[in-house]
Amino acid sequence: MENRLIQVRQKLKDNNIDAILITKRQNYMYLSGFTGTSAHLLISAEKAYLITDFRYIEQATRQAPLFEVVKYQGNIEIEIKKLLEELFVKKLGFEADHLTYDKYLCYKEKFENTELVPQKDFVESLRIIKSDDEIEKIKKAVEIADRAFEHILNYIKPGIKENEIAAELEYFMKKNGAQGPSFETIVASGTRSAMPHGVASEKVIQYGDIVTLDYGAIYEGYCSDITRTIFVGYAQDKLKEIYEIVLNAQLKALKGAFEGKTGREIDSIAREIITKEGYGNNFGHGLGHGVGLEIHEEPRLSVSGEKVMKNGMVVTVEPGIYIEGLGGVRIEDMIVINNDKPQILTKAPKEMIIVG
Ligand code: CO
Ligand code: CO
Repeated sequence: MENRLIQVRQKLKDNNIDAILITKRQNYMYLSGFTGTSAHLLISAEKAYLITDFRYIEQATRQAPLFEVVKYQGNIEIEIKKLLEELFVKKLGFEADHLTYDKYLCYKEKFENTELVPQKDFVESLRIIKSDDEIEKIKKAVEIADRAFEHILNYIKPGIKENEIAAELEYFMKKNGAQGPSFETIVASGTRSAMPHGVASEKVIQYGDIVTLDYGAIYEGYCSDITRTIFVGYAQDKLKEIYEIVLNAQLKALKGAFEGKTGREIDSIAREIITKEGYGNNFGHGLGHGVGLEIHEEPRLSVSGEKVMKNGMVVTVEPGIYIEGLGGVRIEDMIVINNDKPQILTKAPKEMIIVG
């Protein structure tokens, strides 16, 4: 945490601002340790304030020892203005992709002696590389999802609804240490699996269905994200063929996920294999994304992924092929970029599985 404040202060200098106001939850969690749902951080070269209301004073004092906790009543702008004046802040950075236009206008009017300077990815650029401690938490989140997969294999059979499978996955993960699911659980069976983001529905699993499960857990604020595609009863030939292509593309992309490569270069490994097999137009999304306090964060592994991979980045590798009217296959693992051989966090089996 101390190191993170040092990095923030360096960025204040680099970006030529006197202080920064942090309002996005994942960002104030990352910098302060405070996990409550309402806080503003005001950080200058000398001071670090956490401004919150009476509900959170005790929790904030305990969780954010590097911050001076300030209580506000009624209007938070009055409290912030007071601090800005105390600190002689002439240029105040704010999170441009998080502050609403309404709030911006309000600040502009109330902080008349302070220039508001928009900042992009101010904290996100620090979060992109994970510390060992963060990787440990992510590993736990992945492990919970892995165990949930093993559990759900014995649960899926003809006659069960997608919604029941989603509920069982989430219940299992919570019972095994998750704070909750990291996003809305996807259970897409039969022809519904052709929808890459088919959240669980009332549809009943049929003999012969293909089922895509895409879900994850949150552990101490950190997310996991896994996709497995399985078969119920038997596998149709065409879907079997697609499964093998997706698995091959996924394994090759994993092998090519090096430090120093761009997200686009890694994406192209899988995309070329899938395109060569004739399914290029059926892989309509990026290969992967960063995961951390947010389920989707930088860097992106996609045709527009310009960022260069660095050790300590945590990303997903998740190629897929989707055919309307037939079904779809996606396989997703999480990895840590680590020189020329990624550390693969996801351990759930990937060979074709037929249940029921
Ligand atoms: Co996913
Ligand atoms: Co994902």
